[in-house]
Amino acid sequence: LHCLGEIPLLTSLFLCLSVCLSACLSLSVCACVSPVNITISVQMGTKTLLLCPPVPPTKAVVITWVITLRGQPPCKISYRVETKETSETNCTDRRITWASTPDQSPDLQISAVALDHDGYYSCVIATPNGNFQKRHNIQVLLPPAVTLFPGENRTAVCEATAGKPPAQISWTPEGYCKTKNESHSNGTVTVRSTCQWDHKKVHAVLCSVTHSTGNRILSIQLNQGVISPLHSLLTILYVKLSLLGIILLIMGFVFFQKRNYYR
Ligand SMILES: *[C@@H]1O[C@H](CO)[C@@H](O)[C@H](O)[C@H]1NC(C)=O
Ligand SMILES: *[C@@H]1O[C@H](CO)[C@@H](O)[C@H](O)[C@H]1NC(C)=O
Ligand SMILES: *[C@@H]1O[C@H](CO)[C@@H](O)[C@H](O)[C@H]1NC(C)=O
Ligand SMILES: *[C@@H]1O[C@H](CO)[C@@H](O)[C@H](O)[C@H]1NC(C)=O
Ligand SMILES: *[C@@H]1O[C@H](CO)[C@@H](O)[C@H](O)[C@H]1NC(C)=O
Repeated sequence: LHCLGEIPLLTSLFLCLSVCLSACLSLSVCACVSPVNITISVQMGTKTLLLCPPVPPTKAVVITWVITLRGQPPCKISYRVETKETSETNCTDRRITWASTPDQSPDLQISAVALDHDGYYSCVIATPNGNFQKRHNIQVLLPPAVTLFPGENRTAVCEATAGKPPAQISWTPEGYCKTKNESHSNGTVTVRSTCQWDHKKVHAVLCSVTHSTGNRILSIQLNQGVISPLHSLLTILYVKLSLLGIILLIMGFVFFQKRNYYR
């Protein structure tokens, strides 16, 4: 019996409902649900739980996870309920483990999601009534590092470094812009937008960086007395150093005066 996927959704819903009226919560109700494909976006570094279809543990015969990651052979983990045997093929990533133990729960977990965890994670639970499948498409997100700095000649450069997916950059007011994307081997993309404003009335501009992990807005002055954090830090440093110099001078002076006095 394999009523998964083949039955159109409406028919299967109708079947489920009619079955449900008579025998609620029996396994045959669940069997009418089509295989589930879900897409999950997770931020890098977070812990993620991958769930199997909800099948009563007593009905499961074999639990199988198939993990397909970019540039790697598919990894397959199987657990045979009756014998409590686990077998693995082509699985090398120790960060992907059972959420607890397979006799307790069929779910998997990734302790800290990394960029190379992008891919498909499929749980198939074989039961006497058929197979139940749930397929996860995991998309790893990484917020870009955002910088905005002034260039020569009334230009500004806004950069969203190593984000995943690529960030989008827009400006207020709009200038004459060139935007470049640079893809890195780890799947991240650096987006750099360089703009120029000819209109002399434009003094300050805003760079808006749009990303699925959150948006950022930075502002900068064009030309006239560019205030960059580094610049102001250096100014503070100079002031402090000169103050220190003056204090040392005074102390030295007082010291020599005293030495002369006690002689
Ligand atoms: C789920 O994904 C598999 C593999 O790509 C595909 O064959 C199947 O049609 C998908 N099912 C649904 C309901 O989208
Ligand atoms: C394991 O990986 C090899 C290639 O490295 C591949 O030929 C084989 O089919 C894989 N096994 C499974 C069960 O996917
Ligand atoms: C500055 O901009 C003007 C007008 O766009 C251009 O003619 C000039 O060559 C630019 N100078 C530099 C140093 O980029
Ligand atoms: C850069 O990537 C963004 C986001 O995918 C896209 O909208 C834009 O068209 C790309 N620009 C270039 C120059 O490739
Ligand atoms: C991805 O690659 C880029 C360029 O090599 C690097 O700057 C960035 O730090 C990398 N990100 C991660 C999370 O490894």
